[in-house]
Amino acid sequence: MNVISLFDGMSVGQLALQDLGIEVDTYYASEIDKFATKVCMKNFPETVQLGTVENWEQWEISDPISLLLGGSPCQGFSQIGKKLNFEDPRSKLFFDYVRVLEDFEPKYFLLENVVMKQEYQDIISDILESVYSVEDVSNNDPQYFLKPVGVTESPILLEDQRDFSELHQNLHFSKRKPKGVRKGDVLITVAVTAGALLSYFKVTGGLQEVTEDEILRDSWKERWPWYMEGRNLSPKFGAQWWIHNIQRKDVFNEFLELYPGIPVTSAGGFSLGTLNYGGDKVKITKEFGDFLISKIENVNQG
Ligand SMILES: C[S@@+](CC[C@H](N)C(=O)[O-])C[C@H]1O[C@@H](n2cnc3c(N)ncnc32)[C@H](O)[C@@H]1O
Repeated sequence: MNVISLFDGMSVGQLALQDLGIEVDTYYASEIDKFATKVCMKNFPETVQLGTVENWEQWEISDPISLLLGGSPCQGFSQIGKKLNFEDPRSKLFFDYVRVLEDFEPKYFLLENVVMKQEYQDIISDILESVYSVEDVSNNDPQYFLKPVGVTESPILLEDQRDFSELHQNLHFSKRKPKGVRKGDVLITVAVTAGALLSYFKVTGGLQEVTEDEILRDSWKERWPWYMEGRNLSPKFGAQWWIHNIQRKDVFNEFLELYPGIPVTSAGGFSLGTLNYGGDKVKITKEFGDFLISKIENVNQG
């Protein structure tokens, strides 16, 4: 079988496979530490070195991959470290692991890491589960929400061309504890100032509250203390939303024109007025949600 090992270090993964008597055809290793790579190449000269995981999109691997191994740098998750978790740039490498997992679709995967807070473990499990099963069994009837993103002090403007393609994002809510948003629900994000659609997400994690430390680091979180982890279902669109500039108001008008009898909010309303008064989300009908998503998908699939 063929194996990809991310953050391969000195390739103890390869050693373990050898000890277990598991035959490997090609072992692809991604590692940036030259000393660790040297040890690996001394013991396993056939290893194909891929370099940094951040370049995974350029890897030319056409063989089917049966096993993905990896333990991303752990400082960001560690109990001993500053517990920066997903906001730590080193933890972000974990998301490269997730992208490789999604792209290569190995039959098996193994992710190892340090002892960490149960909360982070749950998030990681949720993410991995969401990669392997897009349908959330516990939520067969997802609700749809339209969610404004952006704060007045740092508005999201078309000309800034901010990237919203991150596969996993924390979706923040204002001080009022968001009730009713569940795992598996669909959240469509819209830039407050630019007025354009940004992406759409499936909620993959339960509700969490930011810590005092996080507020000290990012003061805006004081006003947006609640968050849920979401999986971006339209990363391609999120990387170029400003080019397509799908204005929330235009899609709303088009929907009302095409389906005059169908409300846009799940409460039966025909306006999104609540968003103009600072609401941090509005629950919308499945019909309107699917309509917004179809607009995004027209571009995302293209
Ligand atoms: C937790 S250790 C994993 C050790 C490994 N399991 C072993 O057997 O030695 C994380 C490894 O990730 C590597 N690493 C850090 N950034 C990387 C990157 N961008 N691409 C690939 N590997 C990276 C580090 O050099 C380190 O060896």
